[in-house]
Amino acid sequence: MKIIELNNKEEIAKYVSKKVISKVKNNKKAVIGFATGTSPLLTYKEIIKDHQKNHTSWKDITTFNLDEYISLPKDHKQSYNYFMHHNLFDYLDLKQENINIPLGVNNYQEFANKYDQKIIDAGGIDLQILGLGINGHIGFNEPPCDFESKTRVVNLVKSTIKANSRFFKNINEVPKQAVSMGIKSIINAKKIILIAFGFNKAKAIKELVEGKISINWPCTVLRNHKDFTLVIDKEAKSLLDQKE
Ligand code: F6R
Repeated sequence: MKIIELNNKEEIAKYVSKKVISKVKNNKKAVIGFATGTSPLLTYKEIIKDHQKNHTSWKDITTFNLDEYISLPKDHKQSYNYFMHHNLFDYLDLKQENINIPLGVNNYQEFANKYDQKIIDAGGIDLQILGLGINGHIGFNEPPCDFESKTRVVNLVKSTIKANSRFFKNINEVPKQAVSMGIKSIINAKKIILIAFGFNKAKAIKELVEGKISINWPCTVLRNHKDFTLVIDKEAKSLLDQKE
């Protein structure tokens, strides 16, 4: 595990976007795994800026997203499909057929069952971007989680529903279930970069870096990955025993 500490979320976005862009430049058919949420948002803005300024081509890139809420149609403003299109995909020259996001409505179960095979058929994920839940979840793999899990329907726990209610009119509108890539699907990625900033991520970062590898802190599974980079700020790092 490599830990990169930067001063703020802007620096984090610049650092992570450079990694993504260089992967895309060096492998024109790369497969990139994306997350939604606040953590990668500025990174996506940097990727868009690069595409507009330097014309980095995404034409033959394939993407896989981690998760989607069940019951929200694709055009719902809080769906992850909407999030990805409005915060990244619509600004790049990606082919629609190369964009993969779990389905949250209709035959979502069947779609979920085929998702891991689709990742394998695409050659596997070359670079996976992750955020981190305050309870240590990655994707929507809530604790206690199964380290062997594949893409499936999951129940969201109360703390996640509460944390995500900031995007909805009220907490009752937050879906209670999602489709999420499993821990195994995530850990199979060739390279993983996790973004975390702010004090509210400090406890999960402490468990991830210094805690015991445990299904009660899903993120701890990442310590076993051979190419895993944690990109964090001082606040997220503040509870670590080893500060330097
Ligand atoms: C989103 C996802 C989640 C988020 C996590 C952190 O696709 O998989 O694991 O990364 O809940 O969310 P933010 O970044 O909003 O703090």
